[in-house]
Amino acid sequence: MTGPNGGRDAPDPSDGPGRDAPGPSDGLGRGTPEPSKSHGHTAPDPSKGHWHSPPGPSKSLGHTAPDSSDGLFPRPRSVVAPGAVHVPGWLPPERQRELVEACREWARGPVPLRNTVLPGGGVMSVRTVCLGWHWQPYRYTRTADDVNGARVAAFPEWLAAWGRSAVAEAYGDPAAAEAYAPDTALVNFYDGAARMGMHQDREERSDAPVVSLSLGDTCVFRFGNTRDRGRPYTDVELASGDLFVFGGPSRYAFHGVTRVFGGTAGPASGMRAGRLNLTLRETGL
Ligand code: SIN
Ligand code: MN
Repeated sequence: MTGPNGGRDAPDPSDGPGRDAPGPSDGLGRGTPEPSKSHGHTAPDPSKGHWHSPPGPSKSLGHTAPDSSDGLFPRPRSVVAPGAVHVPGWLPPERQRELVEACREWARGPVPLRNTVLPGGGVMSVRTVCLGWHWQPYRYTRTADDVNGARVAAFPEWLAAWGRSAVAEAYGDPAAAEAYAPDTALVNFYDGAARMGMHQDREERSDAPVVSLSLGDTCVFRFGNTRDRGRPYTDVELASGDLFVFGGPSRYAFHGVTRVFGGTAGPASGMRAGRLNLTLRETGL
């Protein structure tokens, strides 16, 4: 992402500073998960039920995620733009709950969730914690120098494996999946008022795809073009368990979150309120 106040791609800081620390009602303040133990070092395909068997990206090739639905309307997978693929309901409820638990653990530290302060003084409404590398506008560092100076939590191998499975699912390309080596994730928490302005993910020195996993409340994800924040863009509803991958010709497309529909997360997601999104990236650093 690059700076808002320089008139470039900008996370939306519009709802101002001063948000409270996460509390019990936001779905992140409870639970005592031990993600590294529950996930172990094997790398399951999160879209499959057999958690303890090693996944291998190739196992998910050809797998079509079940259409997720609110009980009325099936949501088929779609190619939103070349290289940008939406797979509804990719993560089954159990995987969603495990990922929510892992996010709760990461939100506890060593670096807490925080509202990122932008160079011009604006404060993002989304609260973020990073894995592997710490993103601050507009660079990656190992330590969270704009928060508490601590080194960020490690990026776990199991999450990299989920990333490879995701790329395999989206593109059906075993070589691309095998080669995918994400080393950072931004974990973003949205309460009902939070949103994110149109921006590009471009602090990475790798052209590898971005893998996005959504949990909890449904949002409107606006996926645009690579030229500017304006039209043409497509508004996509991202619900709990949805996968969205953008790479290739869409890797540097502008994108953002225009709204979150409070109260739409079903209990099966493990979220009590709000929305979580993880974007897995290769920093190339
Ligand atoms: C992001 O662009 O980093 C997050 C997108 C999302 O929350 O879906
Ligand atoms: Mn982004």
